[in-house]
Amino acid sequence: MRHLTTARRRATAVVAAGLLLAGALIGLRPPAAAALDNGVARTPPMGWNSWNSFGCNINETLIRQTADAIVASGMRDAGYQYVVVDDCWFNPNRDSAGNLQGDPGRFPSGMRALGDYLHGKGLKFGLYQVPVDKTCAQYFGGYPGATGSQGHEAQDARQFAAWGVDFLKYDWCSPNGTIDQQVATFAKMRDALAATGRPIVYSINPNSIHAKTGPQRNWGDVANMWRTTEDITNAWDTGQTNGYPMGIQNIINVTVPLAGYARPGGFNDPDMMEVGRGGMTDTEMRSHFAMWAVLAAPLIAGNDVRNMNAATQGILTNRALIAINQDSLGLQATQVSFDGTRRVLAKRLADGDVAVALFNQGGASTTISTTAAAVGKSGTSFTLLDAWTNATTTTTGAISATVPAHGTVVYRVSGGGTGTPPPTTGGTLVSAASGRCLDVPQSNTTNGTQPVIWDCTGGANQRWTRNADGTVRSGQSGLCLDVNGAATANGTTVILWTCTGAANQRWTVR
Ligand code: GLA
Repeated sequence: MRHLTTARRRATAVVAAGLLLAGALIGLRPPAAAALDNGVARTPPMGWNSWNSFGCNINETLIRQTADAIVASGMRDAGYQYVVVDDCWFNPNRDSAGNLQGDPGRFPSGMRALGDYLHGKGLKFGLYQVPVDKTCAQYFGGYPGATGSQGHEAQDARQFAAWGVDFLKYDWCSPNGTIDQQVATFAKMRDALAATGRPIVYSINPNSIHAKTGPQRNWGDVANMWRTTEDITNAWDTGQTNGYPMGIQNIINVTVPLAGYARPGGFNDPDMMEVGRGGMTDTEMRSHFAMWAVLAAPLIAGNDVRNMNAATQGILTNRALIAINQDSLGLQATQVSFDGTRRVLAKRLADGDVAVALFNQGGASTTISTTAAAVGKSGTSFTLLDAWTNATTTTTGAISATVPAHGTVVYRVSGGGTGTPPPTTGGTLVSAASGRCLDVPQSNTTNGTQPVIWDCTGGANQRWTRNADGTVRSGQSGLCLDVNGAATANGTTVILWTCTGAANQRWTVR
């Protein structure tokens, strides 16, 4: 939801062109700084947020009715907990002591009373704020004032804790600031929240009208969850790589390669869900939820839960998928294979099972296949539980389904033992220096072809997988990166070569 859509698109384009993108070689990144360990979000947070359906049109009656509906619909019992009041909840003026206040017209009972109401329902309380001077609605002129936390971090954190806030969404809605400044500024609120002593989930968005810095580093040292893209909308594909607004397919493309970042306490956030908001077929809605589930994404509903239909309710409360999402290992599914249309992802689970998603990105029904060995299972006898139908079948190793256009079949694979897991990372190889991608020229598949540096478009010839054996393989040709003649001299060119797994084709993550 965004008023001033054109202004935002223009702002995004200017920023993207103007800022130096601190790219990183996905799969070959420097080690993450110490992970934030504040005791919360040990599994992906689940809840609801006001923005996607209501934008600035919020008040305490709506939030209370929503909380009631979350309880009555069974969503709370399925795991949805955090009720997050997004932008436009505040008085446009701080009080004489500089404290934030709820807007007296919209929240006449006050924010503490709202928190009490939510806690009384067995739910948790979330609020939106920004690290800069203006919230996103204030920046775009949709709401008066300039009440951001800049310069008020400790005071605002104390206020949130006093109101009983359990979740803070902190949104960098500004074209200004380098990624290093973002890290330092987001860290201020992280530390201010910690100083309150109250456990508060810290959810950041480094991307709004800014260079999309969400995917450029592992933010697990700063926050419990971090947005990977610009804002989501209720469409399957908007044609955006990472610009405003993002469709479901576009967000998946950005988030899949970031699997290595997810762990208990820190998760990639592909944004609040659009399930139940129209704009997509039922198959697409189910695919959206299934993919969020296997990607270990926070499951934050964005629909009007007071008026949802049975299909939406059924999707949002799918127990098999929620169990996969909430698994205690906190792993994000990694990519097993992808041919440009058929994408197979696998998520290892705490009980030894593996969740396998067979995702059809194409416009026609197709058969998608993998094997138990490829998804990290050993043995010859397995049971497949279909997460949508709850039907079980047995197999000696083949895993396959006919999947409709834009559909996702998810199997929970049990039986056998633990084998070699699929590669932990994969994606576009981006140069840290220039932000440019490693590209296979004209999709060439010939041995000895020299890869070239090219503007990142995310095309298949720029996608690479790092395999369990350490080889880095092009998604287009299946060829490996090879150090020419095993030469070790500086300046030696790197070429593509048939993957043999030889030493000069193996690469290590440092
Ligand atoms: C940004 C965020 C959205 C929402 C709005 C509120 O666009 O990315 O999720 O919070 O601000 O104005």
